[in-house]
Amino acid sequence: MKSVLEFAAAKAAGRKISMITCYDSSLARVAEASQVDSILVGDSAAMVVHGYPDTLAATVEMMAWHTAAVRRGAPTRFLIGDLPFLSFRKGVPAALDAVAALVRAGAQAVKLEGVAGHEDVIEAIVGSGVPVMGHLGLTPQSVNALSGFRVQGRLDDDAARIVEDARRLEALGCFSMVLECVPSALGARITRSLRIPTIGVGAGPDCDGQVLVLNDLLGFTGTHRPRFVRAYVDGNGIVRDALDRFDADVKQGRFPTAAESYDA
Ligand code: KIV
Repeated sequence: MKSVLEFAAAKAAGRKISMITCYDSSLARVAEASQVDSILVGDSAAMVVHGYPDTLAATVEMMAWHTAAVRRGAPTRFLIGDLPFLSFRKGVPAALDAVAALVRAGAQAVKLEGVAGHEDVIEAIVGSGVPVMGHLGLTPQSVNALSGFRVQGRLDDDAARIVEDARRLEALGCFSMVLECVPSALGARITRSLRIPTIGVGAGPDCDGQVLVLNDLLGFTGTHRPRFVRAYVDGNGIVRDALDRFDADVKQGRFPTAAESYDA
């Protein structure tokens, strides 16, 4: 995908949208060569790359560095930069500075979590000509208010609030939204009620598209793997095996060979 117009066209045509997160140039090169439609430089970088327990440590500077790295590896893929914790909650001018940093780093759109209390910011970003992707359901930047990474919208009142928030995001001009960790029925209900596409992560099969954290998809997971994650390869196992073979080759004098060394 090259533009937001293709997101709308995909929904209109009933074509599913694939999205991955990515944080660095070498994996972005692989994504660029794949069929995957779009890349999100998620603030999950704070957890996946930097080892923090949640996304609250992500900063605009961190996100701009990762966005620029991914853009260099994937020059033509539709790229969304994630606005990190509080960067869009300090008023319109500060939010636009954060947006500018991500767009200058190569993002074609930005994503932000929630809607209540920053409608003006969403309107200002959309009005400035930068496409905005919403994010509802489990919004990890509110992990402390939500008391952990939990499924959202199981109670009728919560579900109704999320449906209403989704409508507000659409009315404010968002081109798409992530639905994270909500029951499948709620994912389907929101998807049916909107003209813009929903991209699910733990939101069931009826969303207009699906996003997975790249490291989860590649099997570089820790001890806890959420049920919505499908690992397509055993990254941990493959890499550990390669490291052990390298270690054995070095220790047994099999690496390097003459062909892997320089003549005088
Ligand atoms: O930061 C992130 O990786 C995300 C996706 C899970 C949607 O927000």
